Amino acid sequence: MQGSSSTPRVSIQPATGKLGILTPGLGAVATTFIAGVESVRRGWSAPIGSLTQMATIRLGKRTEGRSPLIKDFVPLYDLNNVVFGAWDPIADDAYTAAKKAGVLEDKDLEPMADFLKAIVPMKAVFDSKYVTRLTNTTNVKTGKSKRDLAEQLRQDIRDFKAKNGCDRLVAVWCASTEAFIKPGPKHATVAAFEAAMDASDDDIAPSMLYAWACIMEGVPYCNGAPNLAVDTPALIQLANERGVPISGKDFKTGQTWMKTVIAPGLKARMLGLAGWYSTNILGNRDGEVLDDPASFKTKEESKLSVLHTILQPEVYPQLYKDFSHVVRINYYPPRGDNKEGWDNIDIVGWMGYPMQIKVNFLCRDSILAAPIVLDLALFSDFAMRAGMKGIQEWLSFYYKSPMAAPGLQPEHDLFIQQTKLKNTLRHLMGEEQITHLGLEYYAS
Ligand SMILES: NC(=O)c1ccc[n+]([C@@H]2O[C@H](COP(=O)([O-])OP(=O)(O)OC[C@H]3O[C@@H](n4cnc5c(N)ncnc54)[C@H](O)[C@@H]3O)[C@@H](O)[C@H]2O)c1
Repeated sequence: MQGSSSTPRVSIQPATGKLGILTPGLGAVATTFIAGVESVRRGWSAPIGSLTQMATIRLGKRTEGRSPLIKDFVPLYDLNNVVFGAWDPIADDAYTAAKKAGVLEDKDLEPMADFLKAIVPMKAVFDSKYVTRLTNTTNVKTGKSKRDLAEQLRQDIRDFKAKNGCDRLVAVWCASTEAFIKPGPKHATVAAFEAAMDASDDDIAPSMLYAWACIMEGVPYCNGAPNLAVDTPALIQLANERGVPISGKDFKTGQTWMKTVIAPGLKARMLGLAGWYSTNILGNRDGEVLDDPASFKTKEESKLSVLHTILQPEVYPQLYKDFSHVVRINYYPPRGDNKEGWDNIDIVGWMGYPMQIKVNFLCRDSILAAPIVLDLALFSDFAMRAGMKGIQEWLSFYYKSPMAAPGLQPEHDLFIQQTKLKNTLRHLMGEEQITHLGLEYYAS
C-alpha cells in the first residue's frame, strides 16, 4: 500500500493469490465488463468510470495534502490477479455473446477474441416463467428439485475455484431481470426458504438459488438487477449467520443516476417539484426482456422509489407533496444498447413560478454498468476480507434501489452515498471521517 500510513481498525486479510469474479448472466453488461478489464490489463484503455481504479480519497486535514488513490489506500485485488466465470442459459462464449450484444466494436473485440472465446458459460439455473422473452435457452441445468439445482451451483463454485486456483470468489448478478415477486412467508426465514427449495415452490426464483448457493459457499453476492434475489429476510439472515457481504439492487447507471444527481440539487436549493416524466428507448436484449410487463414491473418499482426518499415530501410538503412521477421504457430495436432517455422536470420557484428542465441523455447502458460491476466485485471482496457481513449499505452508491437494514430508509442521494462509501473506507483503515467542517481554521 502506498500513499498512506493508516493502521486499519479491523484485521483485514491480504488480497493474495487470485480473485474469481463470477457473473450469473453473460450478456451485454458482463461481456462489456470482462472485455474492459482485459483491455485495461493490456494497457489499451483506462478504467474510466471505476472508483476502485481511478478515484482518490482525501485523508486527514486539507493542509496535510494526503489524497492517495483508493486502490493504494485499501488492499484491493489487482486487475492482473482476477479471473472470470459465468453462467448463462444461452451457450455462447463471451466473444460470441459480446458480438451479439453489439456494445463493443470489432476493433476492441477482435484483438482479444481468443481470451473471450475461452470464457464459456456454465449451465444456468433457468426457468422461463421468470424471464419470458428469452429464446435459445439450451444451456440449462436439470435437477429433481430447486434445492438440487442450488446444490449443483455450489458444486460449480467449488469446481471453478479449484480449476482456476482462486483464493477467493465474488459474484455479481448480471442476468436478466426476473418477473416481479413480493417477499412472502417462503422468504421469511432460512428454514422456510430451504423448505420451499425442497418443495420447488414457485416463490423461489432462480436468482434466489444463486444467492443461496453463493452465501453457502462464502461468496459475496451483489445483485445488479431489480429482482429480489438476495433481498429477502431469509437470505439476509443467512448472510449474517455465515459472515458473507451482500448488496443490491439494480445497477444505478443512466437515467436514475442522473435523477440522484439532479434531485439533491433541487432539494439543496429548496426548489419545488410538480412532476418528473422519464421515458427511454432501448433496443438491447435487456430492453426486450423489459418489454414483458412482469419484468418491467420489477424495474418500475426500482426506478420509482428514488425521488421520494431524496425529496422527503413528508418533511417538505409545500415543495414535494403529490409530485407526479412517471417512468417508461420502450423497446425499440434499432437503437440497440445505445439507449436514449428523456426527462421533463417541472420545477417550482420563488412565488410559485413554474420552470422546466429537459434532459436528453444519449448513453450506453453497458458502458456505464461495466465499471460498477468491477467496483462492486472488488469492494465486496474487500468487505469479506475485512470481516463485514450482511447488507453493505456503503455500496448503495452503485444501486438504484439500495438494500437497507429492516426499518431503515435506503439512502438515494448520490453525494451522501459517496460520502458514506469513502467514510467507510476511512473508518476501516483507521483514518478520521471527513466532515468538511474546516475546524483546522476555527478551533481555538
Ligand atoms: N446496463 C445497465 O445499465 C443496467 C442497469 C441496471 C441494471 N441492469 C441489469 O443488468 C442485467 C443485465 O443486463 P444486460 O444488458 O447485460 O442484459 P442481457 O440480456 O444482455 O444479458 C443478460 C443475460 O442473462 C442471461 N440469463 C437470464 N436468466 C439467467 C439465469 N437464470 N441464469 C444465468 N443467466 C441468465 C441471459 O441469457 C442473458 O445472456 C439486467 O437484469 C439489467 O436489467 C443493467
